[in-house]
Amino acid sequence: MKNLKDLYLNFFESKGHKIIPSASVIPENDPTCLFNTAGMQPLIPYLLGEKHPLGTRLTDVQKCFRLTDLDEVGDKTHHTFFEMLGNWSLGDYFKKESIAWSFEFLTKELNIPIEKLAVTVFRGNDLVDADNESAEYWMEQGIPKERIAFLGEEDNWWGVATGGPCGSDTEIFYWRSEEEAPIVFDPEDKRWVEIWNNVFMQYNKTAEDKYESLEQKNVDTGMGVERTTAILENVDDNYKTSIWKDIIGKIEDISNKSYENENDARCMRIIADHIRAVVIITADDANIVPSNTDQGYILRRLIRRMIRYAKKLEIDINSDFDIELAKMIFKKYSKYYPEIDRNKDRIIEVLTLEKNKFSRTLEKGIKEFQKITEILKKQNINTINGKTVFRLYDTFGFPPEMTGEFAGEIGMDIDMEGFKKHFNEHQEKSRAGATEKFKGGLSDHSESNIKYHTATHLLHQALKDVLGNDVNQKGSNINSERLRFDFSYPSKLTDEQKQKVESIVNQKISEALDVTVEEMTVEEAKQKGAVGLFTNKYGDIVKVYSIGDYSKEICGGPHVKNTSELGIFKIKKEEAVGAGVRRIKAVLEI
Ligand code: ALA
Repeated sequence: MKNLKDLYLNFFESKGHKIIPSASVIPENDPTCLFNTAGMQPLIPYLLGEKHPLGTRLTDVQKCFRLTDLDEVGDKTHHTFFEMLGNWSLGDYFKKESIAWSFEFLTKELNIPIEKLAVTVFRGNDLVDADNESAEYWMEQGIPKERIAFLGEEDNWWGVATGGPCGSDTEIFYWRSEEEAPIVFDPEDKRWVEIWNNVFMQYNKTAEDKYESLEQKNVDTGMGVERTTAILENVDDNYKTSIWKDIIGKIEDISNKSYENENDARCMRIIADHIRAVVIITADDANIVPSNTDQGYILRRLIRRMIRYAKKLEIDINSDFDIELAKMIFKKYSKYYPEIDRNKDRIIEVLTLEKNKFSRTLEKGIKEFQKITEILKKQNINTINGKTVFRLYDTFGFPPEMTGEFAGEIGMDIDMEGFKKHFNEHQEKSRAGATEKFKGGLSDHSESNIKYHTATHLLHQALKDVLGNDVNQKGSNINSERLRFDFSYPSKLTDEQKQKVESIVNQKISEALDVTVEEMTVEEAKQKGAVGLFTNKYGDIVKVYSIGDYSKEICGGPHVKNTSELGIFKIKKEEAVGAGVRRIKAVLEI
C-alpha cells in the first residue's frame, strides 16, 4: 500500500488542490513561537486574505513541533517532531465539500469502515450558532445522528493561542478497539481517537481579544501522520508502525537489547524520536545549531537527551550510532523535505560536534550528580538546590530539565526557580564584565575572545589549505561577538571555498585538539614552520602556539586549552577591503 502522505496529497490534488512544500520549521516573522505547531501557521497571511500564488486550494505535509510534550516523549504516542497533513480552502469551498472529501478520503482511500467513525461539531456560543450545518453534511454522508456530538469551545473551536485566524471545527474520531464500536458516540471514551480536525475559519482574533469577521471563509484541516498511520496499521504503539519499525530495529541491534522490555523500549523511543527531530531541525535552511537560547537550546537538549538515553542502553556513545540512525532518517524523509539532502554534511557535523562536547563531561557530571544526591539523601533533603543545578549546567553541560529527569528517577526534584535565579545572575555578571572591559579599553581576555583567538588561528591555516600557502594575515580584530580576519588573496571566495574553509575549521574543532605553547627564538620558530610576522629581531624569544599538529603560529596568546571548547564555526561574511586583501567575519555558535 502507498503511504498515507502520498495517498493524502494525491487525493487532494485530484480535488483541485496544489501540493505545496512544507515551510521551514521556524515560523517566519513570529518571535513568540519557536517552531510551527500546525500546518496552517505558515499560511496565516493567506488565511487573512493575501493572495496565494498557487491559488485557493492547497495541500501539504508540514513539519511541526509540539514541545510541551518533550518530557513525555518515551511513551507509545508522543513525539517532539511530527508531520501534519492538511488541505486548505482560501475563500474557496467550505463546510460541504470539506466534509464530503474528508469522508471520501477516509472511507474510500483509507478504507475505514463507517462503523468506526464518529464526529464532533460546535455547540455554539455568543459569537456563532450551533453548527447544525456541519451535522447535516455528516448525516448526508451516512454518519448516524448518534455518532455526532455537539461540544463547546474547549473542544470545537480552533486557533493559535496568540491569536489570528480561527473558527469552529468538526473533529473526526476513529474507534480503536477490538470490541465493537458502541452505537452512541461518547467523546469521553478514550477508545475514540481523534484523527482529523477540519476548522472553518471565519474570524480573526485580534491582539485585544476581539473577533473580527474575515472577508473570506477558509477551511483549515490537520491530520497527524504518526497517529493515523498507527490506526491504519492496527497498532496502538506509534513506534511499531512502518514509520519507526526499522529505526527501532536498528537501535535494538546497536544496543543488543529488546523492544519487548518496557524500560528499554522507553529509551529506544526517546532515541528514535529525538534523532528524527534533530535531523529535521538541523536540516532546515534556517541554519539552527546547538546553543543556549531558543531553537538552538531545544536542539541541544534533544541531542543531549538522546545521548543520555543511549548511554542508559549501554550503547557506546562514542561510536557512530547517531550518524547511522541519522542516515536512516535522511533516507526516509528526503523525498518530502529536500533540504535534508542539501544539508546532510552539516547535520552530521552538528551531531558530531555536540556529541563530542557533551560526552566528554557526561560521565563526570553523572558522578558529580551521584555524589551530591547521596549527601542530600543522608540529610533527608529531596530537592536539589538551584545553585547545584546551575553548576551541573555550567560545568557539565546538563540542561536543567535533564538534571530534573535524573532527579525524578531517584525520587528527587530540582529547584528550577533557584536555577533561573543563578542563571540570570551569572548572565548579568558576564554582561557587566564585558561592559567594564569595553569602557576601560583594555584588551579583552574574556572567555569568548579567547575562543575567537584560537578560531582565528584555525581559520588562518584552513585558508592556506584551501586557497594556497600564499595567503597571509593582513589584520585581525576580535571582540566577544565575532572575529574579523584580513588576508591576502586576489579574488572573491566562491561558496564552495568558503564552505570548505568552514568545514575544515569545524573538523579541527571536533577533533578536540590540544592547544600548546612553547617559547623559542624566532629562528627556531621559522625552522619549525610556524607562521607569523617575523619582524622580531634575531635572538628574540617568541611564543609559538600549536593546535595539535594542524597549526603553528607565533603569537602572544592567550588561547583555549582544547579546540573542543570552541562551538561551531560559521563564516558570516566575505568581502574585499582593498586591492588583493579580503576580509572574513565569522562567529562561533556555542
Ligand atoms: N489547525 C488545525 C489543527 O492543528 C487543523 O488541529
